[in-house]
Formats: sequence, structure tokens, C-alpha cells
Amino acid sequence: MGRIKAGIIGMGYIGVSHIEAIRRIGFAELVAVADVNYDLAKKKADEFYIPKCYKTVNELLADDEIQVVHNCTPNNLHAEINEKIIKAGKHAFSEKPLTRTGDEAKKILELLNQNKRLVAGVNFNYRMNPLVQEMKNRVNNGEIGIPRLVHGSYLQDWLLYETDYNWRIEPEVCGPSRCIADIGSHFMDTVQTVLGAKITEVCSDLLTVIPVRKKPKTQVETFSLNTNVEYEDREVKTEDYGAVLFKMDNGIHGVFYVSEVSAGRGCFLNFEIDGSKASVYWNQETADQMWMGFRDKDNLLVMRNPNNMCPESKEYSYLAKGHPEGWNDAFKNNIYSFYKYIADGKVLGKDPGDFATFENGYYIIRLTEAILKSNETRRWVKVES
Ligand SMILES: NC(=O)c1ccc[n+]([C@@H]2O[C@H](COP(=O)([O-])OP(=O)(O)OC[C@H]3O[C@@H](n4cnc5c(N)ncnc54)[C@H](O)[C@@H]3O)[C@@H](O)[C@H]2O)c1
Repeated sequence: MGRIKAGIIGMGYIGVSHIEAIRRIGFAELVAVADVNYDLAKKKADEFYIPKCYKTVNELLADDEIQVVHNCTPNNLHAEINEKIIKAGKHAFSEKPLTRTGDEAKKILELLNQNKRLVAGVNFNYRMNPLVQEMKNRVNNGEIGIPRLVHGSYLQDWLLYETDYNWRIEPEVCGPSRCIADIGSHFMDTVQTVLGAKITEVCSDLLTVIPVRKKPKTQVETFSLNTNVEYEDREVKTEDYGAVLFKMDNGIHGVFYVSEVSAGRGCFLNFEIDGSKASVYWNQETADQMWMGFRDKDNLLVMRNPNNMCPESKEYSYLAKGHPEGWNDAFKNNIYSFYKYIADGKVLGKDPGDFATFENGYYIIRLTEAILKSNETRRWVKVES
């Protein structure tokens, strides 16, 4: 088998990270990009020496050379484009959330079921951090005893001011949830991965901290500083903050909170698992270190060192100790795992993999819907799947 040929749809903020990750995989080759903003796609194609650049999704999907398509468009296009990718007979690697609603995702799963030779993954990249994998293996090996509790948060500040605006504010584009769907989904996927268990029941409190925002009259790039001065008022219907109590199917209880209005926080995904013998903690903003807490001896700050990692997690670590690995490396690990699965001829539903499948992505959307329902009804809600 030659190099696996890829195309990317959507050349915005995250599309560029996909270019860089594919380029780091020796047996993958990026042959085309597309964006509805053709000038942007062309600029990226020129900058990165990508041979082909298309104006539309359909043109890219009609390219017979392309085997894998990355969907890096806003959430409202995930269902439609993921469906088109599968119908075109190509492997799909979708940005999260898989779709805006569980019903949209269910349709995609049904379609995928009829195309079993296709591999489909969702980009829940944090699970691929070497020390997240190390946490998973240390929990599995009994190093913290019986895991009992999990708690943490994911905080950002990119929506701190009323003048901060982006398509994520609009439910028609983003979906009915913003903060939970956008970053809470990462928290839930990472914790479920480490504990090898599912969150099955939730009780939530959501809040729109800024109920009216000032929308710039021209489009502003995600996470960029906004210097435009002409605005119009827009009512905000999605949450800036959410707190969630939860129970897992292995009996573990937990709590997390998410916010996009916490000044100073950029990608503050952190969580601790408390076991009967010890605790273990990791924070994405200091991704190369992990903390272990003990009652009867000194606590431990573990600096990533492949030589001391569990054999299973060592595979996710490439650089020697003292050479920090972080966000981009975990992102690449995720995309590498997806391509390796394809290269090895593995089949979803039969062969285990470590990336998030569309099935996993669907469950996270149902979880998000349960969190929304709990906030509305002020009760605990069981997750439907
Ligand atoms: N995994 C992660 O860590 C992570 C991080 C950021 C964003 N994301 C996800 O990536 C997706 C995109 O987010 P972003 O921040 O890059 O958004 P963005 O607005 O910066 O980029 C989206 C791009 O899609 C293009 N686009 C829109 N409609 C299109 C169409 N019909 N055909 C082709 N291209 C089209 C836009 O022109 C834009 O360039 C979202 O779903 C988001 O949740 C994931």
C-alpha cells in the first residue's frame, strides 16, 4: 500500500493544525484542500505546497485520488459533510462535536453501518497526550488503588468581553449547546478514556454570563483579537459556563465545570482522579507533567520520561525527557492512530482502536443533550443512547 492520500475541508483555525499533523505522518500525503472561502484555501495551499485546491466540497469529494477526508468546518456542516464523505466512499475524520444533535449523528451511524469498510473518527485529541495515556495505564495497573472520584474543569477566556463574537455563539451554527459541546465534550471524552467507563447520569447548572453580545459587522477569526469597531447587538442563547455532577457506569462519581469567560485561561483542561491509595492529576497547560498525591509519603511530580513510562503509554511519547511534548503532539498522535488503523486494514466494530469513533462521538452528543435537559428540568437525567 502506498501513502494514504488525504484532503481537508475547512481551512480556518483548526484546518491548519490538520495540515501540520498529516505532514508529520510518513505514510500519509495531503493532496488537496477546500474552503468556501477559496482565497483562504488557495493561500494555505500555496503556503504549504499542497498540490490541489478546490472551491467546493463536491469537487474535493469527486477527486478519486483522495482516500481520507478531514471535516474541519463549523458544526452546522458536520452532519451534511460527514454524510457526503461516507457516500463518496472515503474514510472520514471529523472535527468535534460529531454533529449538532444526537438525531443527526444517529443517521450518520446508520449510513456508516452500511459501509463497514470505511473508517470514521472524531478529533478528541486530548486523550492522545502521552501523560493522559500514562494516567490511564497507572489507573489500570492499580497504582492509585480503586478509583473513586473524578473532578476537574476546562476553562478558556476567549469570550470574556461582550465584544467577543464568533459563529459558536449562534445555536443554528454551533448547536443547542456551546460551552459544554465545544470544550465540555473534550473533558468528558478524556475522563471516559482514562477511566475506561461511561458517564451515564448527569445533573447540571448552565449559565449565559453575557446575555447580549456585540456582533462585529464583519467576520472575525476564531481566537483572534477583535479590532473591528462596528457592532450590532445579539441575544445569546447558549451557555458561557456549565457545572455538571455526574455518575459513571463503574460507580465513580464526579464533577466538572467549563467556562469560556475565565480571564487568563486558554486551554485549561485539568482533572484529578482520587483512588483508595493515591490521586493522580494532569493539566493540559502543563502537559509534560503529572502529579501523584499520597497521604503517607511525599507527593510526586512526574516529569514525562519515556524510559519510565508504562510500555502501553510509551508508544505515545516520542521525545526524550526534558524536551516538552504538548498540544500539537497529542493532536498528531490522534491523527496518526487514525491513519495507522486504516493502513493496517482494521475494521470498526471488530478491531479495537484508540481514537474516538463516530459511535463515541455520538455518545458525547447524547451526554450533552442530557446535560441540557438536566439544566432545563433541574433534575438528574440519565443519558439516552
Ligand atoms: N479538536 C480541537 O481541539 C478543535 C479546536 C478548534 C476547533 N475545533 C472544531 O473544528 C471545527 C472548525 O472550527 P474552527 O475554529 O477551525 O472554525 P473556523 O471558523 O476558524 O474555520 C472553519 C472554516 O470552514 C470554512 N467553511 C465554512 N463553510 C464551508 C463550506 N460549506 N465548505 C467548505 N468550507 C467551509 C470556513 O470558511 C472556515 O475557513 C469546529 O467544529 C470546532 O469545534 C476543534
